[in-house]
Amino acid sequence: MSENLISVSYLGAAALFILALGGLKNNESARRGNLYGIIGMTIAVLVTISAFVTKNYNVLIVVMAGGGALGFVLSRRVQMMQMPELVAILHSLVGLAAVLIGYANFLDTSIQLVGVEKTIHEIEIYIGVGIGAMTFTGSIIAYGKLSGMIGGQPMLLPARHWLNLAMLIGVIVVGIEFVGAETHGDAEMMLIIMTLITLAFGIHMVAAIGGADMPVVISMLNSYSGWAAAATGFMLSNDLLIVTGALVGSSGAILSYIMCRAMNRNFISVIAGGFGTASGTSSASSFAEEGDVTTIDIAETAQLLKTAKEVMVVPGYGMAMAQAQHAISDIAKSLINKGVNVRFGIHPVAGRMPGHMNVLLAEAKVPYDIVFEMDEVNDDFPNIDVSIIIGANDTVNPSALDDENSPIAGMPVLEVWKGEITIVLKRGMAAGYAGVDNPLFVKENTRMLFGDAKESLDHLYKAL
Ligand code: TAP
Repeated sequence: MSENLISVSYLGAAALFILALGGLKNNESARRGNLYGIIGMTIAVLVTISAFVTKNYNVLIVVMAGGGALGFVLSRRVQMMQMPELVAILHSLVGLAAVLIGYANFLDTSIQLVGVEKTIHEIEIYIGVGIGAMTFTGSIIAYGKLSGMIGGQPMLLPARHWLNLAMLIGVIVVGIEFVGAETHGDAEMMLIIMTLITLAFGIHMVAAIGGADMPVVISMLNSYSGWAAAATGFMLSNDLLIVTGALVGSSGAILSYIMCRAMNRNFISVIAGGFGTASGTSSASSFAEEGDVTTIDIAETAQLLKTAKEVMVVPGYGMAMAQAQHAISDIAKSLINKGVNVRFGIHPVAGRMPGHMNVLLAEAKVPYDIVFEMDEVNDDFPNIDVSIIIGANDTVNPSALDDENSPIAGMPVLEVWKGEITIVLKRGMAAGYAGVDNPLFVKENTRMLFGDAKESLDHLYKAL
């Protein structure tokens, strides 16, 4: 394949990736954005194979068929609920690939570079392997935390900041030794030492991050996986991989920034870890028991909704758990038909991944024009007659605003308690992901509708 054709195809694929990102900006254009991404990736893979793979086609076919089949089965099996974990584990594979390609490049004796070019190539390998190793283990820990295999509480080792600093200095010192090594064997030893340090760093960094900061961690690992891919692109001198990696890296970094802003946290303190562990934390059961709250039944809830003019639905992780999106969609449609103004208010970190609620509501065909971001509706709560909170907890917790000792102090939340009546659908008094008490449940104008959210909403639909 000619150089020109490769360059033009790569340019086209890069442009399609940029259009894909642009398309993912909102729900209406997301499908189109995905299509651009698929076409771009198909071009990228086909051109790369036919231009650069000259031998060992058999190995490639076997590996691609195996990987493709695995991906196909996984994506068909995975529940919407498990998407965050799936994303985390896929990031780990990008990191692992960067590590393996780095080692393959290092061990490839056919690459004979000298002088500055050699030094640059070694630095590319070193950085690629380092970011890859950190992304690999960090993503595995994130997977463990999101799937509940590892507790959400941060692991706070004594002198953890010093430990991080020591690891960073270690990586720099070993890096200098690596580039200046006299023999290939010495360099290999340095590369192995650095890999071990960065593997440990990935574990320590994510393990130290507390429950409520996990949204930032996911987008941060997304960003790292992009930079690992870009570093791989440098190692392989593949322009498209550099561009694609940089697109993923920078969009992940922007998303991390947006997440930090949504939670009123600064990036450095997220990385430093420990959010959600301040002394104010206690289990929900020590704070309020079911007997301390005012409950409501289905008939009363239906009655309130029938007489309401303004209804705000606030979904959270519990809606995803219960798969209650279709039930609330039916209820919303029936209320709209009766002339009620129904809106959905979405917190930026509701659920377990960015856009989690939007995806579920889109799946249940809730019209996009009644789904609003937190900032668009938060000032309207004083005009709301009934708010229905479906399995949301941390994202509607007033202590984030009123209690400076609260572990989630400063995080903006949906101020549902300012409406006339708030109905909370959840199974019991358990805390949310951050493990923090929620005084909303004992407020005078709050009514608790206990039970699985889907079951409650199904009954409510019938009663309406
Ligand atoms: P959470 O605070 O996690 O609360 C979810 C609530 O849903 C729980 O209190 C639970 O109470 C209830 N629930 C669970 N299953 C239910 C069911 N079948 N029916 C009814 N209720 C059910 O949810 P949130 O308000 O969406 O907040 C999200 C939290 O996750 C934040 O702390 C956020 O920082 C964190 N997080 C977010 C992300 C992203 S990117 N969105 C990523 C990682 C972590 P019961 O058990 O009593 O029913």
